Formats: sequence, C-alpha cells, structure tokens
Amino acid sequence: MSLLEVHDVRMHYPASPDAWGRPRAWLRAVDGVSLSIAEGEVVGLVGESGCGKSTLGRVITGLERPTAGTVRFGGRDVAGRAGTPGLQLVFQDSLGSMDPRWTAAEIVSEPWRARGRRMARGELRRKVAGLLSDVGLEAAAMDRYPHEFSGGQRQRIGLARALADEPRLLVCDEVVSALDVSVQAQVVNLLMRLRRERGMAMLFISHDLAVVEHVSARMAVMYLGRIIEEGRAREVCARPLHPYTAALVSAVPEPGRARGGPALQGEPPSPLSPPPGCTFHLRCPIATTRCGAVSPSWREASPGRWVACHEAGPTDPGVQASPAGTR
Ligand SMILES: Nc1ncnc2c1ncn2[C@@H]1O[C@H](COP(=O)(O)OP(=O)(O)OP(=O)(O)O)[C@@H](O)[C@H]1O
Ligand SMILES: [Mg+2]
Repeated sequence: MSLLEVHDVRMHYPASPDAWGRPRAWLRAVDGVSLSIAEGEVVGLVGESGCGKSTLGRVITGLERPTAGTVRFGGRDVAGRAGTPGLQLVFQDSLGSMDPRWTAAEIVSEPWRARGRRMARGELRRKVAGLLSDVGLEAAAMDRYPHEFSGGQRQRIGLARALADEPRLLVCDEVVSALDVSVQAQVVNLLMRLRRERGMAMLFISHDLAVVEHVSARMAVMYLGRIIEEGRAREVCARPLHPYTAALVSAVPEPGRARGGPALQGEPPSPLSPPPGCTFHLRCPIATTRCGAVSPSWREASPGRWVACHEAGPTDPGVQASPAGTR
C-alpha cells in the first residue's frame, strides 16, 4: 500500500451565483485525479498556471474537502481533515499563510503547539534556530515578522514550519519558484538531503519542468484539472508521449533536450466550460475528429508510462485501458 492514495478526486467550485446565490456554473479546478505516492518517494506535478496544482495540494493536505473522490494517507481517510500528523503543505502564497502578528519563531514552532508539545523557551529557540539554519536563514530571523522578509525568505520560513512537524509527506507548492537560482539550488539540495535522511516523501508542485525533472523520480503532468501523463521523470522529459507534455518539454531552454517540437498555442480553455472530448484538442497539433468528441482513456502505453491521449505513443496491446484518471 502507498503512503498516499488519491482516487478520482474532484474539486468543483460554485461560480456565477444567481440572485438567490445559487451557482449557475461549476468551476472544475480538479476533475478526476488519481495519484499515489510511496513512502520516501518524490513525485513531481507540473502544468500551466491555473491547471489545478495548488487546489490538488490543498485537497491532499485536507485544507479543502473534495467534491468527490477519496484521499488516504497511511491507510486513513484524510479528506477534508487538516492537521493530519505527518502530512504537511508548504504554501505557494507564503504571506497569506502566515499570521502577520506572529514572529518567525512563533510561526515555525506552530506545529509543536498544535500537537500540545511543550518545551522550555531556551530549547524552543534552539530548535527553531536549527530549522532556520537548515533552510539557510540566520537565527536572528526568528524575532522578525512575516512582512519584514523577502518573498524567498518567507518561503523558507514556511518550509521550516512544515519541517518542524517531521512530515512523512511534504507537499511543496512552488517552493523554489520565487527564489533566485543560487538559493533555489540550496533549497532543492536541502529537500533532497531531508528525503535521504528522514525518508520523507514529497509531492513537488511546480510549473518549472526542469526543476521537477531534477528533483522527482516520477512525474505527473496536469492539464485543466486532470493528469494527462505520468511516468519516470527522466523518461517523461526525454520521450514525452502526450503532445501537451511535448510542448512543455520543448519550451525548456536546455541543451541536449529534444527541442523544436510544436510550441504551445493559445491559452488553456476555461475550467468553467471545458471542451468536449479531449480537453487539449483545441490546442493540439495532432488532434483528429475523434479527439473533439471522445475523452481519451487513461492507459499504460508502456510499463510505468501512463497517458490520456488517443494519438500518443506506442500502445501495449497487453495492457488494458481504464476510464481517464482511474486505475
Ligand atoms: N477557492 C477557489 N474558489 C474558486 N475557484 C478557485 C479557488 N481556488 C482555485 N480556483 C480556480 O481553480 C483553478 C485552479 O487553480 P489553482 O490555484 O489550483 O491552479 P495552479 O495550477 O496552482 O496555478 P498556478 O501555477 O498559477 O499556481 C483556477 O481556475 C482558479 O481560478
Ligand atoms: Mg498554484
């Protein structure tokens, strides 16, 4: 059994309320996602802005109860239950996730208070200083308030807070996106060290494909609320199966990568009214008429490589297809 088991999760938000406040439409931020993460495994989640990555992160960590589907952590149902021990989120919006009246020391030590762990002031300050040093901040930072830090420094305080809980699974939402390259490498190395030392698993959410490839063993690519490709990170980047993944890969400015593929055209459709069939077909360079009518099934194209596309890649005839997003 995996540490995290997400099955067919949907998060639909009410939209366009009428005069009585009843929703006239639903925004499908997450629309049928299944994902599992093993103990100690690092899984990357990539996709364009607005595809539902943060929403999925909030659902996994129990901050939002999904409209449908199940979330199990360590075998327990944790859907809609925030504060599950061992399950922590580092927020994309670090400022919004911190009480402005709290010092960094109070913020970082919050998980201990939440668990009723008491310790003497000296010990607490020593432990907080240790965590701050782990994320590359001076001990003096502990007496400052959130607004006194840069975005990158605040992100690291958020990381220190999550690490204080000694998580078994850390959901990192764009933790390095706001940092400059040298600090980015420092935080990535820290996360890799913690994974090795503590056997911590991670869901590493980022729109930066190159960082995700570097950090993750396995990678899932999300488009308009669904996972459309999954596999070993290196293989997905070297030989993308889905035309959307291919476009993301070809946009990464790195030598030695298969580039020159079709660039991504236009904006993703609105999650308020996703198109019929494959939700990518309007932007897809290889779409056929079937793609505009029939939603592609989620199939294992080769061992460990999953894709939802009618036209993509090799098909292993021995492998059964299942409805998109389920397995
Ligand atoms: N609380 C909410 N109420 C209504 N709509 C929401 C809510 N949270 C997110 N959304 C919508 O859900 C969709 C997915 O948003 P989400 O923040 O999960 O995307 P993302 O992939 O994290 O994007 P980014 O890369 O910009 O962080 C967007 O259309 C967003 O406007
Ligand atoms: Mg986000």
